Amino acid sequence: MAQITTGIRSILSMPWAYDALQGMLGVTHARKVVCEDYIRAQPGDVVVDIGCGTAEILKFLPENIRYYGFDLSQHYIDSAKRRFAARGQFQCADVTTMGSSDIPPCQVAIAFGVLHHLDDAAAYGLINSLYDRLAHGGRLITVDPVFVSGQAWVAHELIRRDRGQNVRTCEGYMDLVSERFSAKNIQARHDLLRVPYTYAVMSCTR
Ligand SMILES: C[S@@+](CC[C@H](N)C(=O)[O-])C[C@H]1O[C@@H](n2cnc3c(N)ncnc32)[C@H](O)[C@@H]1O
Repeated sequence: MAQITTGIRSILSMPWAYDALQGMLGVTHARKVVCEDYIRAQPGDVVVDIGCGTAEILKFLPENIRYYGFDLSQHYIDSAKRRFAARGQFQCADVTTMGSSDIPPCQVAIAFGVLHHLDDAAAYGLINSLYDRLAHGGRLITVDPVFVSGQAWVAHELIRRDRGQNVRTCEGYMDLVSERFSAKNIQARHDLLRVPYTYAVMSCTR
């Protein structure tokens, strides 16, 4: 896994520390915007959340969806189960080893903060599996830190120090999906966190 979990960053493996840091940075606001402006899940949708973390995103998704969250961290999955047991199903899994048959057929797939943890081979494999399980007209929404020219120096430095070892440019993220998805777009957003930071929000329709 291309993710640094040692040293000071090991603290983030504790769900409370991870959620607290995200709250301070404004990731809660980012999730709200992404849910409202990009994900736009509809009642009855099956929503697959890859690398769901502690499933905080459920706060901004409709109640009447069927939600499946997958994450590598048993601690995060346990936290999600404690807080959102009635809202979905949560499974500890390494998404790089999941095949299509491990993913429920779905209308919406989310990978919020995941692709930058995966090298190209793992990311291609995951995107292929998700594409295969998306309904026609179904959508994949990804959100990741991105390097763009002209971004604030602080944003660049924060992103450079991320636990994920595969932060890409907008073109790099688009390259991952271009073989399977003909309808896709990407936006670099500098306004989603309280601190200078740049996220790439990519929307792909099957
Ligand atoms: C930046 S966090 C985002 C979590 C969540 N999506 C959110 O928005 O709060 C990235 C998540 O991806 C998970 N992750 C990284 N590599 C993974 C893998 N190979 N399989 C499953 N989950 C993975 C991490 O455990 C972590 O919870």
